[in-house]
Amino acid sequence: MKSNASAPGKIILFGEHFVVYGVKAILCAINKRVTVSASKIHENTISIKSNIGDLNMPPNKPITEIKSPLKPFYFLANKMIEKHNQNTGIEILVQSEIPLGVGLGSSSACCVAGAAAISRLFSETSKKEILELAIEAERTIFQNTSGADCTVCTFGGIMEYDKKNGFSKINSEPNFHLVIANSKIEHSTEAIVANVKQFKEKNEEKFSNLCKEESELINNVLVLLRNNDLSGLGKNMLKNQEYLETIGISNEKLRSMIELAQESSFGAKITGAGGGGCIIALTDESNLENVVEQFKKKNYECFSAKIDFKGLDTF
Ligand code: MEV
Repeated sequence: MKSNASAPGKIILFGEHFVVYGVKAILCAINKRVTVSASKIHENTISIKSNIGDLNMPPNKPITEIKSPLKPFYFLANKMIEKHNQNTGIEILVQSEIPLGVGLGSSSACCVAGAAAISRLFSETSKKEILELAIEAERTIFQNTSGADCTVCTFGGIMEYDKKNGFSKINSEPNFHLVIANSKIEHSTEAIVANVKQFKEKNEEKFSNLCKEESELINNVLVLLRNNDLSGLGKNMLKNQEYLETIGISNEKLRSMIELAQESSFGAKITGAGGGGCIIALTDESNLENVVEQFKKKNYECFSAKIDFKGLDTF
């Protein structure tokens, strides 16, 4: 028996980093996917094949002994074998359209699609249970995750999310378009979140004020989204970017990309952990090609993204 699942990548429209400290964030799933196929095998091994390498290990190894970036898959397979007390191995194949390590949710999409494909080899599993498993798996590589990324990769669409109350879907379908440009600087989300923690510990009052300002900004943005006010949303992206600059997750290349985006879009900002990764620029359909061209002329990898409304898919 083979079990297949796919999950979308994501962008954070507003609120990355502050979400780790309880502030609301706004996220959306994008039309780039990770697909995971899992099957039970007779050999006593967990075998994972992906375009970033392979991992072959017998079950029951302590998770701290696994040094591969494919660790979340090992964790999930091992957990399911143990839970269902079955004498089986598992073979896992991972295929991804999402660039790695650039803030587009590749690891969360892997955890969500992996949790679904692997758990469904053993029993029917609800989306809620899959999300819980996926967050647990993501914690093997990034202990302090807010859970926001896995949540949007599971349920799709645009949503508001905070750690205490979880997510709620935003039902308006704003007619904006997003252009994503890649700085090609890879980052470790865990390391950047740790740097922000240090910034917070050295600047408690400043950080707490920034959290308040970010919360106000998000409340305004929720109204602007309902009113489809693209110009207002763009201005707020630039304001959010200033807060991200203050907490130290930007750099010269990202700043010059945002300046470039400002020439033709409503506004732009880093998306995700920062330190590298991608920026997003907000535009409407009439100007979409212009924004893409502007980045291409300067040799940036760049593409337009659509909102994925499906989220996790199993087949
Ligand atoms: C990473 O995509 C988003 C962060 O806010 C971390 C998190 O929410 O877990 C930087």
